[in-house]
Amino acid sequence: MRLFVALEPSPDFRRALAELQARLRQAGTGGRYLAPDSLHLTLAFVGECAEDLTPLLPPVEAPFPLVLSGVGFFPRARVLWAGVEPSAQLDQLAALVRKNLDGAGLHYDPQAFNPHFTLIRKPVLPGGGALPEVAVPSASMTVSEVCLYRSDHGEDGMKYTVIGRSGGRV
Ligand code: 2AM
Repeated sequence: MRLFVALEPSPDFRRALAELQARLRQAGTGGRYLAPDSLHLTLAFVGECAEDLTPLLPPVEAPFPLVLSGVGFFPRARVLWAGVEPSAQLDQLAALVRKNLDGAGLHYDPQAFNPHFTLIRKPVLPGGGALPEVAVPSASMTVSEVCLYRSDHGEDGMKYTVIGRSGGRV
């Protein structure tokens, strides 16, 4: 199984992300849009792993807000994403997830944590190639749990499914 640990958007937050995708599409942005069901914010990417990682998911002792803010682009990874307002609690949660993986001797992608919801893979930007200026819908949610996701090849690109949550298996 290809596994990663991530935050699942709340229904309202997911709707806002889908609306942002619709606005980007309307502004002429092409590329591989993630299905709204698959949208997530990765805390640690583990990759191929046969172990049940659910017991390593930390509980969120003090739930905290996550606020949608703006869009950005990783040119090397060719990913257009939605960002969130900087949050020390979010950074600490990602660090705790990684510490638990370290403690269990599990490897994960060591790249620095750069919180984002990928919206479009291999985006094709309209006009001169600058990010289109779209209004970002306002959205916020309370982070109260961490999810274990499995990544599978779907008919239409990768499909991401929650298979565990801090506090127990789904
Ligand atoms: P991305 O969307 O920015 O590509 C599942 O692939 C999730 O894990 C995605 O959110 C992806 O981020 C993230 N991820 C982090 N490191 C990865 C890696 N080395 N390979 C694949 N996905 C990775």
